[in-house]
Amino acid sequence: MKLDERWADAVVDSVQPLSPTVRGLRLRPAQGVQPWTLGSHVRVQVQVDGREEVRSYSLVGLPQDSLAAGCWQIAVKRAEPGRGGSRAMWQLQPGDRLRVAGPDNHFGLAPATAGAAHRPVLLVAGGIGITPLLGMAQFLAAQGAPVRLCYAVREPAELVWVDTLRSALGDRLSTHVSSLGQRLDLAREVAALPAGAQLWICGPASMLQAAQAAWRAAGRPAAHLRFETFGSSGTQAAQAFWVRVPRQGLAFEVPAGRSLLDVLNEQGVDTLADCRRGECGLCAVDVLELEGRIDHRDVFLSGPERQDNRRLCACVSRVCGGGIVIDSAWRPDPPRPAPAHR
Ligand code: FES
Repeated sequence: MKLDERWADAVVDSVQPLSPTVRGLRLRPAQGVQPWTLGSHVRVQVQVDGREEVRSYSLVGLPQDSLAAGCWQIAVKRAEPGRGGSRAMWQLQPGDRLRVAGPDNHFGLAPATAGAAHRPVLLVAGGIGITPLLGMAQFLAAQGAPVRLCYAVREPAELVWVDTLRSALGDRLSTHVSSLGQRLDLAREVAALPAGAQLWICGPASMLQAAQAAWRAAGRPAAHLRFETFGSSGTQAAQAFWVRVPRQGLAFEVPAGRSLLDVLNEQGVDTLADCRRGECGLCAVDVLELEGRIDHRDVFLSGPERQDNRRLCACVSRVCGGGIVIDSAWRPDPPRPAPAHR
């Protein structure tokens, strides 16, 4: 079940190679660019192996620049192996048409952060997670806010927009390239933050899980940690797994390149979903039986919940070495009682 069906046309205005694995796209929505807020994302329909699927991309840069240009800027990291969405996006050329929805925002700067009375803010980006944070860094730096950005990547070539960031932040930007041995120590960064500071982080699920653990261990308020993920390749390579849904009398297989959520929907099982990135928890299903192990790729469930294996976020998480018996969390409305006649 989709919560939002506001789909409209957009045209690819231009394509920019940003790194060997990241490509920028400017999209010109047919209805024009409406005002949007930092942290927003758009959803794009992509054709994957003849199927229509949906991917979300953060809007990059400052809203006023986007409004002036009449375009949204997004960036797509080529995921190999992946589910095929990024491959389809990389094939787009200027003039191509696509269907888009949004922008929507689940990662907007809180008023206390965006307003005049700034809290100290630490921004942390993992790889392509820089996309929503670029505009936030530019905005907060221009406001004179006490902001720092830690930008972690695997290879030096993956540091996209580093010159823009350096000119906005100066020495308040630190880069961490793991192939050069420059590991980002999240626990140390959290420990160094002054009281009342906020952490805004966007990266792979493993990085967010580490940040959540460091934040909790430091006794900081949960509300001051804001995060968004672009998904996770998990701790295990994706493999096919079997699924049974006794309530609907269904048994099927989820192939390596598809999500449980997509196959559930294809099988006619109504399932709530929104972010499709393991953040909102709407797609979580109850696990009745498990063969093998669950590769939890979400950032919604807590650490203990992930260990319990009683729930699983169907949009991103998978089973390795077997299969799973589940019950969808979605229930049809119970039939209403017939009105009483007097
Ligand atoms: S749809 Fe949000 S966690 Fe799955």
